[in-house]
Amino acid sequence: MTFSRHLKIAPSILSADFANFGQEIEAVEAQGADWVHVDVMDGHFVPNLTFGPPAVAAFRKHVKTVMDVHLMIAPVDPYIEAFAEAGADIITAHVEAGPHIHRTLQAIRASGKKAGVALNPGTPAQAVAHVLDLTDLVCVMTVNPGFGGQSFIDMTQKVRDLRAMIGDRPVHIEIDGGVTPQTAPLVARAGADVLVAGSAVFKGGSVSNPAVYGDNMRAIRAAVGAVSGHDIV
Ligand code: DX5
Ligand code: ZN
Repeated sequence: MTFSRHLKIAPSILSADFANFGQEIEAVEAQGADWVHVDVMDGHFVPNLTFGPPAVAAFRKHVKTVMDVHLMIAPVDPYIEAFAEAGADIITAHVEAGPHIHRTLQAIRASGKKAGVALNPGTPAQAVAHVLDLTDLVCVMTVNPGFGGQSFIDMTQKVRDLRAMIGDRPVHIEIDGGVTPQTAPLVARAGADVLVAGSAVFKGGSVSNPAVYGDNMRAIRAAVGAVSGHDIV
């Protein structure tokens, strides 16, 4: 995984057919997904339940790109090794999930994986100011986490602040929640390079009609390209 600020689209399989994850992952990758985003929810940190490490290990067999695992769980530290062994490339923990985000990021790096830190909409950019050297990705939530298909909450000022704080460090800025062709240009222009999108990628398509996934991703890229020329700097 070489670092680049080119625009990346990371479909969230939370919006895929839950009876058919393997084919869904292969379909979005064949249609141009850069990464695959996996939303892990515990019914405690967020009011919804999704996948544990055995499910993530099963997804791994189908992911040829980058498996981006977003942990919406508390506590997080006891599960890092299990998600690392399940084959995550990036493991992202929430700053709000516990008192020791610095220790959590150290543990993710020690597991050999890229370390991400996520910020809920109510959490300021400043919360990650002292952990940027331990971080490979900052995930800016543009919905309150827990569900797909929610409306975008405008965090463009937070993205601008993070972009300035990050400077030349090789740290991605990822946007998660409510990304559409309408909202994507706002955050890309502010400095985000990874766009998670669930409903906006999967809507209208299926494994028997996967071209729609490609059309949906092209619509997001085209909207961003119109403002940034695809290269996020
Ligand atoms: C929300 C998840 C998101 C979600 C995005 O808690 O972290 O990844 O699946 O879904 P959309 O793109 O539909 O808002
Ligand atoms: Zn997510």
